[in-house]
Amino acid sequence: MIYLPSCHSTNDIAAELVLNGLAEEGTVVITDNQVGGRGQRGTKWLSEPSQNLTFSVILRPKFLPVAEQFLISQMVALAIYDYFSFYTNQVKIKWPNDIYISSKKVSGTLIENAVQGYGISSSIVGIGININQTRFETARSTSLAEALGTTLNLQSEFEKLGGLLDAGYLRLKTMKQNQVIRDLYLKGLHGYQNSVKFNYLNERVAGVVTGIENSGRLLVKLEGKEGIYDFGLKEIEWVWDE
Ligand code: BTN
Repeated sequence: MIYLPSCHSTNDIAAELVLNGLAEEGTVVITDNQVGGRGQRGTKWLSEPSQNLTFSVILRPKFLPVAEQFLISQMVALAIYDYFSFYTNQVKIKWPNDIYISSKKVSGTLIENAVQGYGISSSIVGIGININQTRFETARSTSLAEALGTTLNLQSEFEKLGGLLDAGYLRLKTMKQNQVIRDLYLKGLHGYQNSVKFNYLNERVAGVVTGIENSGRLLVKLEGKEGIYDFGLKEIEWVWDE
């Protein structure tokens, strides 16, 4: 565990450790005040000091073929989903790996993989979990405290989540339960076997998620259209509560 009272981005610190050969598998970089948090697709991850969990875990999943790298995302999403499920049954995974409670985002993950040959030499799993923060810049964000109406101890929440991540990674390492990970992920997924709405090519469309390709592409049966469509990361945008 590397604890920093304040830092720019735990993913950046973790990347430096990897680059300098100082990163053993399982190293965690955690901070109370992340001032330059990065989100997916170049966005920022904002987190009030000492209110939330912001940390990065360094993994070295050399056993995992590059074509299977989405399993890391699925395993991590599942661990965070299970963590929140201790407290509420209103949890959903929003593909690929955001976690929502009652249609509001409570956690985001930024996974940065380095590839060597056919395997993954390092995976930096950056996780932001809103625990005690109650004021947000957007109405679409929430925290566990807001959902439960009570504040929580950050250290013990980290320990619970850490245990689930550890168990999830060990399961992944066996490479024998990949299908179990995929199936459990689907069970928690927003829109799986359910009609949901999203924006596609500037149009509001409805569809039922039918599965996920091993590459991570989302499979959807669109209402009024023949066949199954598959979507990559930037191709669709979810619409909630309509
Ligand atoms: C997203 O939802 O867009 C992903 C957000 C990921 C935020 C976490 S907080 C810890 C780690 N360090 C970062 O700079 N980002 C990730």
